[in-house]
Amino acid sequence: MCKSINVGIIGMGKALPPRVLTNFDLEKIVETNDEWITTRTGIKERRIVDENSSTSDLATEAAQNALKNAGVSPAEIDLIIVATITPDYKLPSVASIVQSNIGAINAATFDLNAGCSGWVYSIATANAFIQSGFYEKILVVGAETLSTITNWQDRTTCILFGDGAGASVVAKIDEPGFFTFDLGTDGQVEPLYAPGSGSKKLVAEPIPGCTNKVFMIGKDVFKFAVKVQSKSILKLLEKLDMDINEVDLFIPHQANKRIIESACERLNITQDKFMVNLDKYGNTSAASIPLALTEAVEQGKIKKGDTVCVCGFGAGLTWASGIMKWIY
Ligand code: UT7
Repeated sequence: MCKSINVGIIGMGKALPPRVLTNFDLEKIVETNDEWITTRTGIKERRIVDENSSTSDLATEAAQNALKNAGVSPAEIDLIIVATITPDYKLPSVASIVQSNIGAINAATFDLNAGCSGWVYSIATANAFIQSGFYEKILVVGAETLSTITNWQDRTTCILFGDGAGASVVAKIDEPGFFTFDLGTDGQVEPLYAPGSGSKKLVAEPIPGCTNKVFMIGKDVFKFAVKVQSKSILKLLEKLDMDINEVDLFIPHQANKRIIESACERLNITQDKFMVNLDKYGNTSAASIPLALTEAVEQGKIKKGDTVCVCGFGAGLTWASGIMKWIY
């Protein structure tokens, strides 16, 4: 990796729909209860968009907040990447809608689909563009309206997901920000996909009501997540010759508190080293890490000079981790 150009995050922002859906609300929709959801996942409530809002609306608001916090004008942005699995349309991209909404007249645009790892994949992509000298400032957004692809008859998945967006301004900077990344895929469809949502003809629904909605074999994804999370983090630390105690805060994908607990056990670190906000928002896929990162900064859990490790996993099956110095 070329070391001559330093790259890092210079501002973060978030957006959340106002409507709250609690576990008690879900008790009225499917056969479930607050106690089961809380003990098995840690989730208490999630945010859901109303029928007039879309992924690009959340992405736009988060992007505007990130630009404001970074002190960067829309015209300075060279590229917008939106990580999402819930675009407004099959075409055009959410990124192109955000470009128009915020007036980023000089920005190229594309969406990136790497499931819940999407935002980390996107900042690694932004890092490569800037390190190559091609661009200087890139807006990276993770935005989802998972409620629009949730099978509300399936209690094993509908209790998990929520809507939201997190955005970051990634820029060429003077000091080292991003240290390194680990991206990977174990190409598998069946554990986590949306049957009938694309060009592949659906012969039979794996379960009723899942056409064009999320279908997941939870146990398989759980096992994958538990293994890959600690493995990827250890790989990064080894690459950097860094001790785990040098990391001030881990920002894991907010899927299930038991997955986070198991990472702590495997890595032999205490849970206060892991940012958790899934109790309030559930699993927001590509938005989950930037949302948690933004809140960690807002709550003073990350300060300038801290070392931060992000780690995502999800559909693909993908994983993506990164270690960075916090520089603002
Ligand atoms: O973001 C992408 C990554 N996604 C993930 O990381 C998700 C990973 N998977 C998980 O988090 C967990 O597998 C789940 C939370 C989805 C499920 O938890 P689990 O401990 O694996 O539960 P299970 O599927 O083994 O189900 C245990 C029992 C079953 O009943 P029986 O067969 O033991 O009688 C289920 O039918 O719990 C039942 N169950 C529920 N009960 C009440 C499943 N869902 C519910 C529910 N409410 N919502």
